[in-house]
Amino acid sequence: MSKVLITGGAGFIGFHLATALVADGHAVDLLDDFSRGVGDAELKALLDRPSVRCLTVDLRDHDKVVALDDDYDHIYHLAAIIGVAHVMSRPYAVLADNVAMLANVIELARRQKHLARLLFTSTSEVMVGSLQHLDLPVPTPETAVVALPDLAHPRTSYMLSKLYGEAMCLQSGLPVTIIRPHNFYGPRMGMSHVVPELLAKAHALPAGGVLPVASVEHRRAFCYIDDAVTLMRALMDKPAGLGGVFNIGNQDQEISIGDLAQVLIDTVGKGLSIQAGEVHPGSPSRRCPDMTKTVAATGLSPVVSLQDGVARTYAWYRANVFDGKGPSAK
Ligand SMILES: NC(=O)c1ccc[n+]([C@@H]2O[C@H](COP(=O)([O-])OP(=O)(O)OC[C@H]3O[C@@H](n4cnc5c(N)ncnc54)[C@H](O)[C@@H]3O)[C@@H](O)[C@H]2O)c1
Repeated sequence: MSKVLITGGAGFIGFHLATALVADGHAVDLLDDFSRGVGDAELKALLDRPSVRCLTVDLRDHDKVVALDDDYDHIYHLAAIIGVAHVMSRPYAVLADNVAMLANVIELARRQKHLARLLFTSTSEVMVGSLQHLDLPVPTPETAVVALPDLAHPRTSYMLSKLYGEAMCLQSGLPVTIIRPHNFYGPRMGMSHVVPELLAKAHALPAGGVLPVASVEHRRAFCYIDDAVTLMRALMDKPAGLGGVFNIGNQDQEISIGDLAQVLIDTVGKGLSIQAGEVHPGSPSRRCPDMTKTVAATGLSPVVSLQDGVARTYAWYRANVFDGKGPSAK
C-alpha cells in the first residue's frame, strides 16, 4: 500500500484516479479548494472510505501547502485553472496561479522522505502553436517542435503555464513523470466539453429534432477516463515512465466532430439530425497523439471503444445531472 496525494482531487480526473487507487488498497489524500470541483454524492461516498481524506486547501497558499504530510510515496499534481471560459476571463491568473501552485507542490515534494514519483499534468494544447505554424506530423509525438502561439491572446496563457510547468518539473531534480492528456471524457467531467455539451443538447431535444454542431470537420482523439487513469498509474509505477514527457490519449479513436455527434445521437436514440454550425476560430483542425512512447513504456493501450465510453457517460449524466438535477463542475 502506498500513500498518495492528488491535488485537484475533487475534479474530473482526480476523482476517477482516487477511486481506482482506493479500490487497490492505497491511502489517498484529495487536496482541492473546490473552485471548480464539486462535493457531489459520489465524492461524499468516496470520502466516507477510511483510506481517503479530503484536504480543503488553496494550493496557492504556500505555508499551508508546505506544512502538509511528509510521507507521500506518490504525488499527482492535477490542480490548475482550466476550461476555456476561465482561461479567457482570467489569463493573468492562469499564468501566475498555475505556476505558483506547481512551485508549492515541487517544494512539498522535495520535503517528502520517501517520494517515489511526482506526476505533472501538462496538456495536448502545448502543441497548439506548432499545429498553427508548422507542418507537424499527426498523430503527433512528444518530441515535435513546440512553437508559441500569439502571446497576446488570452488563451495562450494556459498552454504557456503548462509548458513552463514541464520545464520546472524537468529542472526540479525530482523523480517526475509529465503527461500530456488528449481529450479525456467520461462521467463527472462538468459541462464545458464537447461530449457532455452535445449530450445535454441531444437529451433535451424532441424526437426527430435538429442538433447544431460546431466545427464538424475538426478531428480529435477521445480517450475514456478509465483508460486514461490506467495509463497514468502505469506510467507512475514503471521505471520507463520516469523523467520524461508522455502523451496520454487514444490514437485509435480519432474521429471528426460530426461523426462524434452521430455516435452521441445514436446513443441518445431519438433519430436526431445534425446541422453543421460555425467553425471555432483558432482551434486546430486535427489533433491526435502519437502513443508509441507511452505504449512502449507501459505495455498498455486504451481498451474502451468510443461507443461504449459514450454510453457509460450518457448513462451517468442522465441519472445524475440531466434528470437527477445534481451539481456539475463549474
Ligand atoms: N480533462 C482533460 O482532457 C485534460 C486535458 C488536458 C489537460 N488536463 C489537465 O489535467 C488536470 C486535471 O484536469 P481535470 O479535467 O480533472 O480538471 P478539473 O477542473 O476537473 O480538476 C482540477 C481541480 O483543481 C482544483 N483547483 C483549481 N485551483 C485550485 C487551487 N488553487 N487549490 C486547490 N485546488 C484547486 C479545482 O477545484 C478542480 O477540482 C489539469 O491540470 C488539466 O490542465 C486535462
